[in-house]
Amino acid sequence: MKLSKNKWLKYKFMEESSSLASHLPRTQQFSYPSLQELINKYGQVVVKPIGGSRGRGVYQVRNLGGEHGYEVHIENKKLDFSSLDDAYSYLKNHISSSHNYMVQRLISRATVHGRPFDMRIIVQRRHHHTTWKVTGKVAKIAGKGYIVSNIGRSHGKLMLVRSALKESSLRHKSKTKLTNRIERVVLRTAKRMELLFPGHRIYGLDIGFDQDGYVWIIEANLFPSSSHFKMLKDKKMYRRISSYKHDH
Ligand SMILES: Nc1ncnc2c1ncn2[C@@H]1O[C@H](COP(=O)(O)OP(=O)(O)O)[C@@H](O)[C@H]1O
Ligand SMILES: [Mg+2]
Repeated sequence: MKLSKNKWLKYKFMEESSSLASHLPRTQQFSYPSLQELINKYGQVVVKPIGGSRGRGVYQVRNLGGEHGYEVHIENKKLDFSSLDDAYSYLKNHISSSHNYMVQRLISRATVHGRPFDMRIIVQRRHHHTTWKVTGKVAKIAGKGYIVSNIGRSHGKLMLVRSALKESSLRHKSKTKLTNRIERVVLRTAKRMELLFPGHRIYGLDIGFDQDGYVWIIEANLFPSSSHFKMLKDKKMYRRISSYKHDH
């Protein structure tokens, strides 16, 4: 697998940066011991393919507490298991054997009308320029019953970040403070990734807020599609992203 598509190696590289580490949900390669460790620690995790895309094969595993066992949530389906061993066997049998998976702390994301959302933030620099800029940001609200916010897979909804925040569970917090936090974390992320991918000029970052408004980096894409921005009525961000992409 290409390094640019390898979520595990990109995660490990970001985690070595002390200013990013606290914004990364703890992640390990998938195995029974790692699943057990993270679920005992955080109560809920995601299991997802290291080379995945578009929200494919993203499982949520939750400890329901006490005698209630464990719940596995995939797409818009939920399944209950009486023990972690049973949940693990189910995952083992359903995840494709040709793909490697990782297990990651699940972030309890802030919600818009009860549905979790995260954001796609585009960070770019112009040819021969060293300063990174946020050129686009959009909120992706998961479709009803889904955990992934990928619009195609979950039948989710796109919103401008400002509008989403206004209607979200974070509406009582300062929008300026929240957006400044995103800005700081994504610019640091781009600078860090630059060491691994010198010459690369665009990142599409999946960023989530938790219920307290703390910023989490879900993943860093090297080849983000502009389709989200093309779908917005206002084409300003779409045009800015294209202008950065095509400048020589
Ligand atoms: N650790 C996590 N906590 C909360 N939600 C997550 C987590 N990991 C993934 N998700 C949800 O699943 C979506 C897809 O996961 P992601 O890591 O972006 O893989 P990809 O988009 O390449 O399939 C994310 O955009 C987010 O909505
Ligand atoms: Mg993603």
